[in-house]
Amino acid sequence: AAPRRARLRIWRGDGATGGLADFTVDAHEGEVVLDLIHRVQATQAPDLAVRWNCKAGKCGSCSAEVNGRPRLLCMTRMSLFAPDEVLTVTPMRTFPVIRDLVTDVSFNYTKAREIPAFVPPPDLAPGEYRMSQEDVARSQEFRKCIECFLCQDVCHVVRDHEENKEAFAGPRFLMRAAELDMHPLDAAGERGLDRARGAQEEHGLGFCNITRCCTEVCPESIRITDNALIPLKERAADRKYDPLVWLGSRIRRR
Ligand code: SF4
Ligand code: F3S
Ligand code: FES
Repeated sequence: AAPRRARLRIWRGDGATGGLADFTVDAHEGEVVLDLIHRVQATQAPDLAVRWNCKAGKCGSCSAEVNGRPRLLCMTRMSLFAPDEVLTVTPMRTFPVIRDLVTDVSFNYTKAREIPAFVPPPDLAPGEYRMSQEDVARSQEFRKCIECFLCQDVCHVVRDHEENKEAFAGPRFLMRAAELDMHPLDAAGERGLDRARGAQEEHGLGFCNITRCCTEVCPESIRITDNALIPLKERAADRKYDPLVWLGSRIRRR
């Protein structure tokens, strides 16, 4: 098929100043938004900044927003949009802009470091424990995460509230806390570290009011809200009212 002409409005500028710039480029059948951004770069704006690596939805680098919705540019097909629709492509709104479509996502690395790491059981030799399939499947779902940070970008708790950033780890890292809290071998409890209550009291789980926007934008279709955040909230509430039951459950496990 012959290419059509597609109209894009792309954010140009750094954090302090900038604006939307209009471009018209060819769009071929089967192309994704990133193809068009690259065509703009190749033909009209060689200094346009965009971050990408794999072009296969696996590196998590090309996160941005198309018509205000957080998306991977390399996985967003042009066929999703009407032929005459003008696509507005902007950087992720929740993070500071470095230039054009590239944002500074170091907020996420800071939050990653704040979640305590897996604590291996002290007295378990390799091969001594067989994980149940249910526990394996749960961890595997969470570990599909490609760290695109689209869930972090979309969550209203920080999207328009810079002041909440310090107290809120965001869905991706609350999910990490949930994964470890539900991991049958994590020995944090024996060390007196209650991950669910820690999430509630130190990492901002209480800010989450289950809007599910994080789950909706996740390119890996991880059920962040239902499988991580809600269970973590329940576990935090249970332990608040009955800490001894929790401790008992940790000790009986082996
Ligand atoms: Fe991206 Fe999903 Fe991971 Fe969030 S949980 S960072 S949306 S892959
Ligand atoms: Fe935010 Fe997801 Fe909760 S978008 S409010 S973390 S369900
Ligand atoms: Fe790797 Fe888009 S370029 S996810």
